[in-house]
This record gives sequence, C-alpha cells and structure tokens, in this order.
Amino acid sequence: MEIKNITVRVEAYDESESLPEMYGYLLSEAEKALTGSYAPYSEFHVGAAVLLDNGEVVLGSNQENAAYPSGMCAERVALFHAQTVFPGVPVKMIAITATADHFVTTAPVTPCGACRQVMAEVEKRQTEKIAVVMRGQTGATFAVKGIDELLPLLFHEEKLKKVNK
Ligand code: THU
Repeated sequence: MEIKNITVRVEAYDESESLPEMYGYLLSEAEKALTGSYAPYSEFHVGAAVLLDNGEVVLGSNQENAAYPSGMCAERVALFHAQTVFPGVPVKMIAITATADHFVTTAPVTPCGACRQVMAEVEKRQTEKIAVVMRGQTGATFAVKGIDELLPLLFHEEKLKKVNK
C-alpha cells in the first residue's frame, strides 16, 4: 500500500486584490442571475454565468421545489441551457456567487458534487478546459483552471467500458 497525494491548484485572491478582468466581468453577470433564483426553502440564492467560446454569456439560478430533490442548482441550469441554445459551442468559464436571506456570504461559493460531475462531462466533450470562478458577496475569490482541480478521481465515461484506462 502507498499513499498517493493528489494536488489541486486553486487561485485565491483576497478582497483587496484586483481580479483578472474576465473573472470580475463574469462574476458580475452571475450576480445578475441572482434575480431569477427561486429559493423559498433554503433562502440561499445562487447565480451562475457561463462564458462560451462565441462570447455569449448564459445565466442560471437555483430553482427549488417543495419536493426538494426536484429542484436544480444554478450551475446546472446555466450549463444545460447553454448546451441547448448554443449546441456544440465550447464553455470557457463559469462564475458562481450566492446571497442568503439572513446572512452575508463571505466565503467563495463552491459548486456541489453533482454540478462538478456535470462540469466534468461538459469539459470532456470539448478540447478546452473550463475555468471556474467562485465568490461570495464579500471576501476572497477562488478560481481554478479546469474541473480536474475540483473533482479528482472522478467517474467518467471510460469507466462504463470493460477495459478501464
Ligand atoms: N445550490 C446551487 O445552486 N449550487 C450549488 O453548487 C450548491 C447549492 C443551491 C441548491 C439549493 O437551491 C440551495 O443552493 C441550497 O442548497
């Protein structure tokens, strides 16, 4: 037995640091998406903005339901919509932010496991990696250059075949 250490690389910008222009722009688009959030149960509103290779930005927000698992996260709303309206156009970047009804979000809003799995599949369908930028209402911004930084040892399509690579 050996222990394998897996390293991920996360860019961390504190609040006083200026962000790369595209990070700041896409985060402000994600903030716009918050308006459409429907979150009467969690009272936690998530906004996502997807930047496509053709320059288009597609927004998504979390949509909850009284039957809780029937709801959907902001990231997947945005990604699935992007693939629907711009089929085959690669995704370059996703920005995520959130507000809560009863507190200020001060930590970067990092995507749930299911959204990471969906991001991984979208990335696998294209040649370019997808950058992910994450921020709360205040505080630090985190960014990664690809989904493998968020989801090491992921389940992918090759695992469905008999011979694993
Ligand atoms: N949520 C997202 O929209 N994205 C995530 O990555 C994590 C969680 C939503 C789902 C639910 O509506 C609320 O946040 C609380 O979990």
